[in-house]
Amino acid sequence: TVLVVDFGAQYAQLIARRVRECHVYSEIVPSTMPVEEMMAKNPKAIILSGGPSSVYAEGAPPVPHGLFSTGVPTFGICYGFQAMAQALGGEVARTGVAEYGGTALEVLDEGVIFAGLPASQTVWMSHGDSVAAAPEGFAVTASTRETPVAAFEHVERGLYGVQFHPEVLHSEHGQAVLKHFLDAAGCRPSWTMLNIVEDSVEAVRRQVGDGRAICALSGGVDSAVAAAIVQRAIGERLTCVFVDHGLLRKGEAEQVERDFVAATGVKLRVVDASERFIKALEGVTDPEEKRKIIGREFIRVFEDEQRAIMADGPVEFLVQGTLYPDVVESGGGTGTANIKSHHNVGGLPEDLQFKLVEPLRALFKDEVRRAGEELGLPAAMVWRQPFPGPGLGIRIVGEVTRDRLAILREADAIAREELSRAGLDRQIWQCPVVLLADVRSVGVQGDGRTYGHPVVLRPVTSEDAMTADWARVPYDVLSRISTRITNEVREINRVVLDVTSKPPGTIEWE
Ligand code: XMP
Repeated sequence: TVLVVDFGAQYAQLIARRVRECHVYSEIVPSTMPVEEMMAKNPKAIILSGGPSSVYAEGAPPVPHGLFSTGVPTFGICYGFQAMAQALGGEVARTGVAEYGGTALEVLDEGVIFAGLPASQTVWMSHGDSVAAAPEGFAVTASTRETPVAAFEHVERGLYGVQFHPEVLHSEHGQAVLKHFLDAAGCRPSWTMLNIVEDSVEAVRRQVGDGRAICALSGGVDSAVAAAIVQRAIGERLTCVFVDHGLLRKGEAEQVERDFVAATGVKLRVVDASERFIKALEGVTDPEEKRKIIGREFIRVFEDEQRAIMADGPVEFLVQGTLYPDVVESGGGTGTANIKSHHNVGGLPEDLQFKLVEPLRALFKDEVRRAGEELGLPAAMVWRQPFPGPGLGIRIVGEVTRDRLAILREADAIAREELSRAGLDRQIWQCPVVLLADVRSVGVQGDGRTYGHPVVLRPVTSEDAMTADWARVPYDVLSRISTRITNEVREINRVVLDVTSKPPGTIEWE
């Protein structure tokens, strides 16, 4: 394990991911964690993350007491670099000179960290004050115009640091820099997808023993990968429930019922509840009300299934696709926090009396996808873009009806197909297609006047869905989508593009 000590930077998660990209397992811990507790995790190496702009900044967090006497190889980044310098008797100057963004770095001494890398390289900086003098015994290995001490190392003590951010892609050789530290610390690249999958299968086997588990599948990647891992661990003692609420996109129900089952051998109960959902949504136009109804109906259907499954014997475990970022954000980095429940399918009942099985708790989203590939899940599932639990129900502005769902499903399928064909799947975060069901506009097709509905294309780019920008999809791709939708979906005679960022617009329209 490599511990990434989080000084409150937005970079800690990124550092942890980069370490894992070197095939070394890493975990984030808060800088307030006592050193004994860190040592109990038996770390091979420690990385001190970035944080406030300077060790002199108000409320700047201290390095955990006693950290440098543990003998564990340690790498300081940005704030962590300054904090290391200060703690070991170097000098941090309140220069007032700041460096932000791409900066030219000159390597003075390749040492361990820059071994074999170019003498001049671009790195990404974000700091106020600087290290003015390295602690005694440290070699200064790089500098920039404004920062004479931009990197240092003390190889015998296993202590290294850089002022720049090797974890961001704008630092040209950042990944190599991290790798050099991990190698020097003796971290072996054993965190591979195969190991990850095997380890989590083993962990589930231990946790569940000879008990039984249930899992709700949503069609998304998280619940699918979680279920596939648990299936490998306990086989027939896992029952998956797939509630088809009739609000999925074209082909998605088949993906779960046919392709996923074929790939995993999972025992699956499919409930076609579309009638029930559509009935419950009759006459409802308010978005919040739609969400509540869909969530409520989901819980009812799931509880019915649960009772039916329990008729064959007790079930103690519920499988959830909770990911590492959820765990970290809810304070789980401390190892003690409560679990933020994962409301992927409109929300599972709060009061279910189950123990949770969460095989993805240590994984980032991209790792979940790779695990899905390792497990042989259908590509369309593994690479599916985010899709809201309430599904197409919140992409029809107006009342949800069977006919309207059918129209939207066709239009959405065309948009997805053309975006994929243009190779844009990985660049675009998601592209909701929204049916303005209560709006009509005049058009002309063939010789006749039409009076049809518009659909809105809402392609966005994003890192985490908290903020987003509208995606600059090439005009010719937009044009193909528009032509095909208006030709192939009779009720639609107009395609419009949403060019709003988030904020102020949310990604979904409802
Ligand atoms: P908004 O519309 O809030 O969406 O900008 C942010 C992200 O969350 C997804 N989303 C949902 N996901 N249940 C979900 O599982 C929901 O009720 C829900 N509402 C929005 C949305 O697709 C986007 O990725």
